Amino acid sequence: MSAGKPPKDSWVEMTELVLPQHTNQRGTAFGGTVVSWVDIAASVCAMRHCEIGVVTASIDAMHFLAPVKRGWIITIFAAVNYTGTTSLEVGVKVLAENPLSGRKFHTATAYLTMVALDEYNKPTPIPPVLPQTDEEKERFEAAKERKKRRLEVRDETKRRKSQKK
Ligand SMILES: CC(C)(COP(=O)(O)OP(=O)(O)OC[C@H]1O[C@@H](n2cnc3c(N)ncnc32)[C@H](O)[C@@H]1OP(=O)(O)O)[C@@H](O)C(=O)NCCC(=O)NCCS
Repeated sequence: MSAGKPPKDSWVEMTELVLPQHTNQRGTAFGGTVVSWVDIAASVCAMRHCEIGVVTASIDAMHFLAPVKRGWIITIFAAVNYTGTTSLEVGVKVLAENPLSGRKFHTATAYLTMVALDEYNKPTPIPPVLPQTDEEKERFEAAKERKKRRLEVRDETKRRKSQKK
C-alpha cells in the first residue's frame, strides 16, 4: 500500500451534457441523475486514491441551488478531503454551464463517505491523504468534524432500528 497521497493524485473532473433522458417533466436535470453522476465521480476519485474497490457508505444532505436546463453542461469535480482507517470523505462540487451564454454557476456540493473493501468484502486499510495546501488542510480538519457527526447519526439510526424490532 502507498505511504500516502496528496489529493491532486486522485482528483476527478467529469463532464456531462444534460440530454432529454436526464430531465424531469419541466425540462431541467432530474436530481437522481445528478446524484448518480456525483456518486460515480466520488467512486472514481476514491478508487484512484485507494487502488482498490470501494462502496458508498453515506452521502450527506445535498441541496440543489438552481435548476439546470436541458442542453446545458454539468462539470463535477471530486477530491479526497479526509481519510480514516478504511474510509475516506470525498468532496464533490457540481458546476452548471449554459453553453449559449458561457455563464457557469455552482449548483450543488456533496460529501460522500466511501469505504474500501477487500476480496472478502470487508473494510480494509487505505493510504492516508496528505493535504498540501492551506485549503486542503482546512478541508481535512472540517471533514474530520463531519465524520464525528455522521457516525452519531448512523449510530442513532441503528439504535432506532433495533428498538423497532
Ligand atoms: C459501508 C460498510 C462497508 C461499512 O461496514 P461496517 O461493517 O459497518 O464497517 P465499520 O463499522 O468497520 O466501518 C468501516 C468504516 O466505514 C465508516 N462508516 C461505516 N458506516 C458509515 C456511514 N454510514 N457513514 C459514514 N462512515 C461510515 C466507519 O467510520 C469506518 O471508517 P474508518 O475505518 O475510516 O474509521 C457496510 O455498511 C456496507 O456494506 N454498506 C452498504 C454499502 C453499499 O452497498 N453502498 C451502495 C449503495 S446501496
